[in-house]
Amino acid sequence: MSRLIVVSNRVAPIQEGKPSAGGLAIGVLDALKETGGVWFGWSGEIVGESGAPVVEKGGKVTYATVGLTRRDYDQYYRGFSNATLWPTFHYRNDLSRFDREEYAGYMRVNGSLAAKLKTLLKPDDIIWVHDYHMLPFAQELRKLGVANPIGFFLHIPFPVPEIMRTVPPHEELIAAMCQYDVVGFQTESDKQSFIDYVERTSRGHFSDDGMLQAFGRMLKVGAYPIGIYPEAIAKSAEQFSDRKQVKSLRDSMRGRKLIMSVDRLDYSKGLVERFQAFERLLLNAPGWHGRVSLVQIAPPTRADVQTYQRIRQNLEGEAGRINGRFAQLDWTPIQYLNRKYERNLLMALFRLSQVGYVTPLRDGMNLVAKEYVASQDPADPGALVLSQFAGAADQLPGALVVNPFDLSQMSEALERALSMPLAERQARHADMMAPLRENNLSVWRDSFLSDLRSVATATSVTEMTVKTVKGATEAKRPAAKA
Ligand code: G6P
Repeated sequence: MSRLIVVSNRVAPIQEGKPSAGGLAIGVLDALKETGGVWFGWSGEIVGESGAPVVEKGGKVTYATVGLTRRDYDQYYRGFSNATLWPTFHYRNDLSRFDREEYAGYMRVNGSLAAKLKTLLKPDDIIWVHDYHMLPFAQELRKLGVANPIGFFLHIPFPVPEIMRTVPPHEELIAAMCQYDVVGFQTESDKQSFIDYVERTSRGHFSDDGMLQAFGRMLKVGAYPIGIYPEAIAKSAEQFSDRKQVKSLRDSMRGRKLIMSVDRLDYSKGLVERFQAFERLLLNAPGWHGRVSLVQIAPPTRADVQTYQRIRQNLEGEAGRINGRFAQLDWTPIQYLNRKYERNLLMALFRLSQVGYVTPLRDGMNLVAKEYVASQDPADPGALVLSQFAGAADQLPGALVVNPFDLSQMSEALERALSMPLAERQARHADMMAPLRENNLSVWRDSFLSDLRSVATATSVTEMTVKTVKGATEAKRPAAKA
């Protein structure tokens, strides 16, 4: 079997049990631990000069990481990736800015990372590239003569063509994406947006077998919703329920109901709207005063990007205002914690709570929603309030699905979730566990990689046939006169 090379900007920490760094790192790490392989990407360090990859082994996974210089970090990570692509792909083009220098830096870093990866590659490796930091990575590898199969998976949403076109070099980026052999998205609608763009703007053609013909290439385009391992999560949620922090939260609740939310502190997560909908519940249903608390865990990320500083200030203001308005001497409505917790502990906190409150304004998948469901005690599960704009909404039929822009609807859903009878909670939980088991993380990985292997084989067979036919024709052709 060929060796799997995973490429992503963020590489999960080698030590197990370290706080999570976002959905991508968790999903990729769990998926890679079983198959083994190489994980190549940024070490998370800023260095004076970026050198050769540092290679370390952790179980079956080999980690190959490189540092970024301050200029690379500013232009590629903080700039074009997180101040242009991230907001635009989350439909916040109002927060997006474009700077040519940053874009040049983004392309340059993709090129230099590709050159560093090349030094580690073997001819039969299969390469799987992840997320928006790496849209042109295959193109850069191809320029260096790498002929291995290369697939790409986008963890975040892909916007409709009208939004995509607000990124000035949109066409270049899409042409670069078409250099992969397989391009995968979280949902059918993300996939459709990409196809719509290519068909309308670049005159490509998508056929029923999932193949897209564009920019002189044939590639497979598919939806591969990322999953979790629900059994493993259920087990750790149960085991960690004995932890001191879980017990002390349980004691401090003194019979109150608990609504749990966990997100990176990001404007795409709809945190302000979420707090305001909770406030509306307290306004409209005073019977809940002193009987329910919202715990929002929101570790800050990308704190040196301006838009993230603003959302942080905004949210602190809202939490303070709502608590000031409703708190009693022995009750704080919103507990807002800006720090990271170990993943297993979070699962136990989910299990303790009565409601999971996951209401992003836009999200590729949102693994927290899936983890919330898997953490529950099937005999007495909590209910899930979930945004229709999270990819997970397609796959969690038992959730109370809400529009995060409709505060009244969200507050009604919260009330319904808090008062939901046991039989209904059990039925909804069972309805969600079935698809989670069926489409677990291995299914995501295996279906993507099997498509990548078969597309790569089909393409090389076609290329060989073309070469052979061409060779035969050339052989028959009379030699040119000297
Ligand atoms: C999201 C992105 C990932 C990213 C993660 C954490 O899940 O899809 O690519 O790694 O957020 O963000 P950060 O900027 O800290 O890597």
